[in-house]
Amino acid sequence: MSVLLDVAVEAGRKAGSILLDFTKSGFRIEHKNPINLVTDADHAAERCVIDHIHTRFPTHGFLAEEQGRIEQSPSPYLWIIDPLDGTTNFAHGFPAYCVSIGLEYRGRCVLGVVFDPSRDDLFTAIEGCGAQLNGHPIHVSNASTLDNSLLVTGFAYDIRESPRNNLDHFAKFALKAQGIRRTGSAALDLCYVAAGRFDGFWEVKLNPWDMAAGSILVKEAGGRLTDFLGCDLSLYGQELVASNGHIHHAMLTVLNETPVQKNSSP
Ligand code: IPD
Ligand code: CA
Ligand code: CA
Repeated sequence: MSVLLDVAVEAGRKAGSILLDFTKSGFRIEHKNPINLVTDADHAAERCVIDHIHTRFPTHGFLAEEQGRIEQSPSPYLWIIDPLDGTTNFAHGFPAYCVSIGLEYRGRCVLGVVFDPSRDDLFTAIEGCGAQLNGHPIHVSNASTLDNSLLVTGFAYDIRESPRNNLDHFAKFALKAQGIRRTGSAALDLCYVAAGRFDGFWEVKLNPWDMAAGSILVKEAGGRLTDFLGCDLSLYGQELVASNGHIHHAMLTVLNETPVQKNSSP
């Protein structure tokens, strides 16, 4: 497993330096929809990660955001890659983005690497071995109430069209938490829960490449991951709640409250 981790770290660092190079040289932006961007940097970083890992492990499978599923052969190993999580931030020069590389073995996430090149933050985890930031062990926070918690969330790119756009949950948590942030990088949000920088994170309609690496970071740092009903997180599901464990029940309660009725009085 440590050989797999070394290769994933090399790939993450290489792709991270490609992203930084693009911030200096400039990049082309295309639109997947009016607010969903993709840049040359996303494509180049993804090619870099896949090529690097494929050279070392030619039989392994890949699921990557821009290229989709690449089947080399029926292998129990599946690398799940977001080459640039936080593309909108990247495109605006806001330094909150990362390379996210997770590894599933027989359908279970066993390894995660998230590299933030702007801060040189390298988050790593191997199943059963704990979570680390730049080689130092990290743990979730001790916050035990929403009143004392800094939460984070995000919004999917169909926010304008879909009624399931998370604004209802955001409004409810805004009145219960100490504070809420929206960083624009789900993989970093998960790593920040793992590092105790955030106490809880929820979002709807994330993709496996947003969650794979960060989810094992949270688990290995002592946190809890479920859907909104409290069932174990599925990387292929629609809902994610990640927390330090202590506030998990309180978060689920808020997520399952019936929507606040609009009052006719001012
Ligand atoms: C997005 C980010 C964002 C989350 C979106 C994701 P991208 O990924 O993780 O925080 O709210 O749902 O799609 O497009 O920057 O790779
Ligand atoms: Ca993403
Ligand atoms: Ca991405």
